[in-house]
Amino acid sequence: MVTVRVETEAAYDVLVGEGLLSEAGERIRSLLPGAEMLCVVSDETVDALYGERLAESLAREGFAVFRHVIAPGEKSKDSAHYLELLNTLAEHRLTKSDAVIALGGGVCGDLAGFAAATYLRGIPYVQIPTSLLAMVDSSVGGKTAVNLPQGKNLAGAFYQPKLVLCDLSVLDTLPEAFWTDGCAEVMKYGVLEGGELFDHLEERGVDFDRAYVIPACIGIKAEYVRQDEFDTGLRQKLNLGHTVGHGIEAVSEYEVSHGRAVAAGLSIIAGAAVRAGFLRGEAAERIRKLLAKCGLPTETTYSLEELLLFLLRDKKRRGDSIRLIVPHDIGHCELHSIPVGELREFLAW
Ligand code: GLY
Repeated sequence: MVTVRVETEAAYDVLVGEGLLSEAGERIRSLLPGAEMLCVVSDETVDALYGERLAESLAREGFAVFRHVIAPGEKSKDSAHYLELLNTLAEHRLTKSDAVIALGGGVCGDLAGFAAATYLRGIPYVQIPTSLLAMVDSSVGGKTAVNLPQGKNLAGAFYQPKLVLCDLSVLDTLPEAFWTDGCAEVMKYGVLEGGELFDHLEERGVDFDRAYVIPACIGIKAEYVRQDEFDTGLRQKLNLGHTVGHGIEAVSEYEVSHGRAVAAGLSIIAGAAVRAGFLRGEAAERIRKLLAKCGLPTETTYSLEELLLFLLRDKKRRGDSIRLIVPHDIGHCELHSIPVGELREFLAW
């Protein structure tokens, strides 16, 4: 097992290894000695696979457990589901010494985390991510949110979990499409970090050594979060490929998955970086080849005009400019503030 420490104001551990789900009870009990009741938030698919095993482990430690199960998919991450979860927590009379456990992918983690952040002005929560994407990204760093009709993640809070348990064995049941999707975030870390990690990914593609790569990605994220917990500068580098990616997701009305949109966004921003003279053509080519090797897209069928409408609404917009993370080399990316009036020319594809 590998432990990655996330040094936020209230520091916590991310544990990565095989079989951690069955040890969840003991590990949570040692962190929350006074907790009596736990609400496990999961979706129907994950609950059917792992809900019982987790509940048994928690019950062995004397916790009263109730399972709040949502439908799988992004539609469950809205204000109605958020209020329903808050009502459930209140009906079960959870107190500030009790806790919420998020068992699932990014939707469960974001929804459960935001409910934990706001119920009684904050009760403890633990992340048990079951998708690759949630393990390497959304479960770590305390970003919690729900979607509004106007856009994704528009209501949220920075609220760090008490613990993150990444049981690698649950990835065995992850459908291939979800694995590939999570790979886009992994490849993003490869481009941010370069070196051995990029070389390993370049050689192995989606068949990377998960016991090495997953803790490595979490470690990279933990370092950005340590330096910039509230996402005011450096942490934004984790959004490499995401500005264009979010635009693609939105234009497609979320038909294009997050990972595929981010992969296309990463390739498009690499192309823009080459044209602007920041990145060598062969480095961009290595990035594109890596994404293609993973079965991820390197372009979008949507036009720049279609995307611009959404890009200009992006959370990373500040007044008359938008922050983009631009690769200068593999292992070296910089934040650039691009005036809105120049965005069309900068990205043009
Ligand atoms: N997903 C990017 C971040 O947590 O900052």
